[in-house]
Amino acid sequence: MRGAGHFCAMTKPSILFVCLGNICRSPMAEGAMRAELVRRGLDWDVDPAGTAAYHVGKSPDPRAIASAASHGIDITGLRARQAAPDDFGRFTHVFALDDKNLANLRAIRPHDGSAELALLLDMIDGRQGEVIADPYYAGADAFEVTWGVVTAAAKAIADKLAR
Ligand code: 4NP
Repeated sequence: MRGAGHFCAMTKPSILFVCLGNICRSPMAEGAMRAELVRRGLDWDVDPAGTAAYHVGKSPDPRAIASAASHGIDITGLRARQAAPDDFGRFTHVFALDDKNLANLRAIRPHDGSAELALLLDMIDGRQGEVIADPYYAGADAFEVTWGVVTAAAKAIADKLAR
């Protein structure tokens, strides 16, 4: 049984990455995590979502698709959806990409939601409390920066949770 704030090592991790639009950062995080799990032979559930509904049903941003593709990862199959209260019962871990996403998730988290909720960069030693900036209004280079940081976070998650 899981209680708030506790994670049972017998439970297979399942991870939800949450940004604002669910078309840039969280699809890249999902793709990087999926690739890391394949490398390690781990079969965990991984999904992305957004706190906003603007882009529900849409594919990832072409710049996010291009960045992932340049690293050999296909994220074209993803379709945006909005994070919901029941996600806190469906996943063991919910990771917010930035502080606003975290605040929005805290606001919809049910009292009995068992998932751990944290900033994604809390998983990287020395980067606790840092946010992953929104690349939507920036250039392609910002998407490469995002790719680098979500890849590092995916490795850190696998290191920490695959025990
Ligand atoms: P994301 O980026 O949260 O990383 O998916 C954004 C995508 C769309 C918007 C903002 C951020 N938007 O305002 O439409």
